[in-house]
Amino acid sequence: MEALRDSGIDELLALCGGCCSCATCHVRVGADFIDRLPAMSDDEDDLLDSSEHRTPESRLSCQIVISDELAGLVVEIAPED
Ligand code: FES
Repeated sequence: MEALRDSGIDELLALCGGCCSCATCHVRVGADFIDRLPAMSDDEDDLLDSSEHRTPESRLSCQIVISDELAGLVVEIAPED
């Protein structure tokens, strides 16, 4: 979430600032990367369940810690609920 915001992308609201309590940082992760991400917490899963736009590639971007392993990661910002 911070990487997106720091690169000037302002479509991502991220209203809670990364506390995993708003789901306004919802993104869809490229299929090549979904298995490389850390497991989803119950809180993240519950929040994503509240979205009409959830897909199997959905994650909350504030819960993704960028590392070298994720170089080349592509995400799509999910439509706003
Ligand atoms: S910024 Fe609120 S859940 Fe990610």
